[in-house]
Amino acid sequence: MKKLVSVSILSADFLNLKEELDKVKNSGADMIHFDVMDGVFVNNISFGFPVLKTVNEYSDMCLDVHLMITDPLKYIEQCAADGADIITFHIESNSNINDTISAIKKFNAKVGLSIKPNTPFEEVIPYLDKIDILLIMTVEPGFGGQSFITDTLEKIQTAKAYITEHDLNVKIQVDGGINEETSVLTGNAGAEIMVAGSYLFKSDNMKNSVNLLAGI
Ligand code: DX5
Ligand code: ZN
Repeated sequence: MKKLVSVSILSADFLNLKEELDKVKNSGADMIHFDVMDGVFVNNISFGFPVLKTVNEYSDMCLDVHLMITDPLKYIEQCAADGADIITFHIESNSNINDTISAIKKFNAKVGLSIKPNTPFEEVIPYLDKIDILLIMTVEPGFGGQSFITDTLEKIQTAKAYITEHDLNVKIQVDGGINEETSVLTGNAGAEIMVAGSYLFKSDNMKNSVNLLAGI
């Protein structure tokens, strides 16, 4: 089955962001992945809402925002107003999970819930009937260009089995160290949305690489 591809612009050349966004659009990828980091939830600071707004004004692509921040609830309204189509936040954050899910729905975005590599799948079970996407991190969040953590494959399989068994409408997304090999491994385990940054921006032919990740 064809997988969806979300291109992480954390690995883009920021000085030439316009050209990079054109490249992403022409690659045939399905979404732009936008990583927001606050320097507290993760040990890195990336970019924030003024950049999101600018990207949204220029691009007509689906904006898949990944909030790696301590208190996501505080920023849902702003994030939606600045153009997010999907808002994913972490179960390990300090915000109330149900309130954050409700806020995302209120502002008409799709809901993603993310878990870090050391968080067991069981923790997300109470929320699975309320979300659209389960983002299973395949590296420790915070930086692009890290190596895929193989142990996460078992979690993807467990999540997929649970989602199928309970007939839930949740897509599994994977993020971190995704390339032509790990996309096959995670895809076989049940992931349907591939996030990739360094692999795609390092590629000489982004379109071919997107097709490889999509499995076509
Ligand atoms: C990491 C971010 C990722 C990152 C992935 O915390 O959430 O989206 O950009 O980068 P690669 O594909 O290089 O591992
Ligand atoms: Zn991400």
